[in-house]
Amino acid sequence: MDFKKIWQRRRELTEKCLEEELERGVSLDETLKKSMEYSLMAGGKRLRPVLLMAAADAVGGNGENFLLSAAALEMIHTYSLIHDDLPAMDNDDFRRGKPTNHKVYGEAAAILAGDALLTLAFETLTHENTTPEKIVAVTKEIAHAAGMAGMVGGQVLDIGAENENISLQELKKLHGGKTGALFRASVISGAILADAGENEIAALGAYAENFGLAFQITDDILDVTGSALVIGKPVGSDEKNHKSTYVSLLSEAGARQKADEAIENAINALDMFDDKADFLREAVRFLAGRES
Ligand code: IPE
Ligand code: IPE
Ligand code: MG
Ligand code: MG
Ligand code: MG
Repeated sequence: MDFKKIWQRRRELTEKCLEEELERGVSLDETLKKSMEYSLMAGGKRLRPVLLMAAADAVGGNGENFLLSAAALEMIHTYSLIHDDLPAMDNDDFRRGKPTNHKVYGEAAAILAGDALLTLAFETLTHENTTPEKIVAVTKEIAHAAGMAGMVGGQVLDIGAENENISLQELKKLHGGKTGALFRASVISGAILADAGENEIAALGAYAENFGLAFQITDDILDVTGSALVIGKPVGSDEKNHKSTYVSLLSEAGARQKADEAIENAINALDMFDDKADFLREAVRFLAGRES
């Protein structure tokens, strides 16, 4: 299994699907569509789509049959990034190597581009080539993860924890919401679409929670040690905003140790799977050394 090659191929498939879905949508305003495209097609690792596909493979399906659901997740993720960068939130000027959406189109337009990407995601999900029952199950999973019980809830905790001393337990909850929930929904959705059993779904859920935790801890570390050119966003954003992060609570070495623990737990969660889960295993290993 060539991890990099499969990742690259599926990244390209996702991008083609994103472009097609945006094209097929009717917008009352051309600039709105342009601003959505600006952030959506700016690059990005496309990890959530790729993990959805890998989870479908792990349970014996073919992830590439579910590009629309994968693309929907990337739309939600991109909307979350546009809003995360707004002056009222992290107030950052660069994202995916380009000026942030609000820097180019203005704040009101950026808020609305995010709103429109979020809703386009759910429209896109309804186009998935599967049974109505599975579309409903996946929609429920993703809606739950994107909203107050997941990403949005976590973002609220993140803003609330600025200038505060929070416990490690609270930080874990915050990370689990703002970042973990969408990773979990990606993996669970891929599993549902490929007819996974309950035990498989539970194991993949545990994998994804640990993956998400390791991913956000690494993001916190890169915010301190990374290169803006490589990560495509500003370094030092968390310190500027007095955020509570694994680095601020535990120092860099402590944060790395927590990330390593989560990586190990993620790999252990895959014990019941054969080599069809190797991409998921490699994805976690990639995390350990990622620079962007
Ligand atoms: C950035 O996500 C926001 C976090 C949840 C840490 P990614 O690191 O996946 O960003 P892109 O999609 O590659 O730009
Ligand atoms: C944001 O976390 C997670 C989202 C839901 C977008 P961060 O604020 O740490 O993400 P970056 O570092 O700006 O990408
Ligand atoms: Mg943030
Ligand atoms: Mg941010
Ligand atoms: Mg960050």
